[in-house]
Amino acid sequence: MANSFEEVISQIKDRLDIVDVVSQYVVLKKSGANYWGICPFHNDKKPSMSVSPSRGIFKCFSCGAGGDALSFLVKIQNREYKDVILELAEKYGIELPTKYHASADTKNQKKDMIKACRKAAMFYHSQLRSADDANKAMTALRKRDVTDEVIDKFTLGWAPNKYDTLYKELKKEFKDDILEKAGLILKSNQGGWIDRFRNRIIIPIQNENGEYVAFGARAVDEGQNPKYLNSSDSLIYNKSKLLFGLCTAQESIKANDGVVIMEGYFDVISAQAHGVENAVASCGTALTAEHVKLLSRYTKSRRIFLSFDTDNAGVNATKKGSAVIKETLATLGDVKQFDESHISTASDNKYACEIRVVSPPQGKDPDEFIRTMGGEMFKEYINNAPLLIDFLLNNILKDKNSAKTPQEKAELVERSIEILKDVNNKIIQSEYVKMVSGVLNIDENAMLKELTKRERLGDNEVKISYKQKVVTNSSQFEVKAQKNLLSVFLASDNTLSYQKLNELLPENIIQDEKLIIVKNTIDKLACTINNVKELTKNLYTEFIEDDNLTQILTDIVELSEAFNGLEPDEFERAVKENVVRLKRCYQEKEAEKLRQQYQQVNDDEIEALKIQMQLRDKIKLRTGDK
Ligand code: CTP
Ligand code: MN
Repeated sequence: MANSFEEVISQIKDRLDIVDVVSQYVVLKKSGANYWGICPFHNDKKPSMSVSPSRGIFKCFSCGAGGDALSFLVKIQNREYKDVILELAEKYGIELPTKYHASADTKNQKKDMIKACRKAAMFYHSQLRSADDANKAMTALRKRDVTDEVIDKFTLGWAPNKYDTLYKELKKEFKDDILEKAGLILKSNQGGWIDRFRNRIIIPIQNENGEYVAFGARAVDEGQNPKYLNSSDSLIYNKSKLLFGLCTAQESIKANDGVVIMEGYFDVISAQAHGVENAVASCGTALTAEHVKLLSRYTKSRRIFLSFDTDNAGVNATKKGSAVIKETLATLGDVKQFDESHISTASDNKYACEIRVVSPPQGKDPDEFIRTMGGEMFKEYINNAPLLIDFLLNNILKDKNSAKTPQEKAELVERSIEILKDVNNKIIQSEYVKMVSGVLNIDENAMLKELTKRERLGDNEVKISYKQKVVTNSSQFEVKAQKNLLSVFLASDNTLSYQKLNELLPENIIQDEKLIIVKNTIDKLACTINNVKELTKNLYTEFIEDDNLTQILTDIVELSEAFNGLEPDEFERAVKENVVRLKRCYQEKEAEKLRQQYQQVNDDEIEALKIQMQLRDKIKLRTGDK
């Protein structure tokens, strides 16, 4: 009989041992009942992550990450939880629910599509050397200095200028709908099937594992539009998650602990052919958060070199791309803002990322530069690539000579400030101010003032968020007390029934939004489950898609330890004490609110009084004048 998806998850969980699972990624050391290790989810210095074999959970006391074995795998592999589950089900030979048999069908379809794409790539590749009309393609490639070796390395090919060369070949082996789904053929106006790519140089696109999943196709004739025809997204191809060249670049990205992101297929082809092996490109789309996450798996220090075209469009792409990178990695901390390579002890890993820009003056794009100047020269530019901040400032200051009037200078200062306001370190920031004001020949202090003015605008937000932080700090205690209360449901040797526990908790005692979700889920599950271990396991399954809830649940599991080994009456007393404490907490909050309101009114009255007195004094003066 087929399992339900929840049963599959449950069976997988039964086979996962938290210590085994975490040990695959983290060195663990036993200490007491638990294990400890360096947390892989933040830049950890000392072992902050505990693993509890008895509870089957991990929890980092520094960054707060936590969960069960399955959530650890999902989190560390940075993948969709469904994919992880399907893979584990296959590994353990667990039968999937009927609904997922459909997904097994999809799986077969995917397999066939990948096979078809591979066949197509090989076919196009052979056509480049055999088709009647392949000559112009070969000439075009030679003009770009593409050698036989490169043609073979990237399986470059030729789609002849006929309607069904590929279809005729592939229909022997594949069903029409597979070829269509793979984006290789189209319905013609007459109703038959025709090849999608015709009269184009074919650049096959491989995923990380080297499977052929899509194609880019370059026009060869004058006026042939569009310049590139690309495969659309399909079951096997998602262009926002795939980077061209990554399959061959991954080793080099790891070895260099850095990646070069380019714009075009031929930029990557030239780079990799000329010894710059760690180059990749997005396929006809802008850089996405998914791309950045994907690359973070390969470069430990997240050192990213942006090497876009040298025109204005390229500079804009650099700005947009770096914004995506910063946003994606924001939770990891600061972007590297100044060079400290002279400090030998500087740890590589302390920044969220290091963004540098490779933009050599010669050539319109990396492809052209590398072909004319060589790979070694390009590497020189990589090795000396300025940090993003230097590149952007430089880009503004290059107009310095045309800025003569105060207004023109102020405009450049304004643009520089836009960049400098985000530099957290004041020393570094002031050094840049010195530099910019020096270059523009303006007053350094005036620029600093403008910068402070700008920062103060943003500062208000900071202040507000600081206030909020103070408030949340007091409510932090409240949340902790609520978690404490919920933890009684998960105490491993809880001797009271769920009903009894529920009676002990007054109505509305849980007020935190997230904790209400947790409580409701406990209520729901408790209808059918009366065993704490099962309950915990199922709660994790319920929250599998939500990292935040998983983390909160882990806190609660952790807190439940405090209730262990209590006699039923002690247990009951402990719960009651917690309720009282929390109630007091809420009351105190209410009182504080009132006090604040009172204070505000008071302040205003004093203010009003002051103004009144001032007014009276003025009137007095005037009448005295008379
Ligand atoms: N691109 C695309 N569709 C287009 C134009 C461009 O998908 N109509 C994508 C391609 O991935 C291309 C990249 O954007 O490689 C960069 O575009 P561009 O600089 O115009 O092309 P190059 O790579 O420089 O190509 P070539 O050297 O052949 O001109
Ligand atoms: Mn280009």
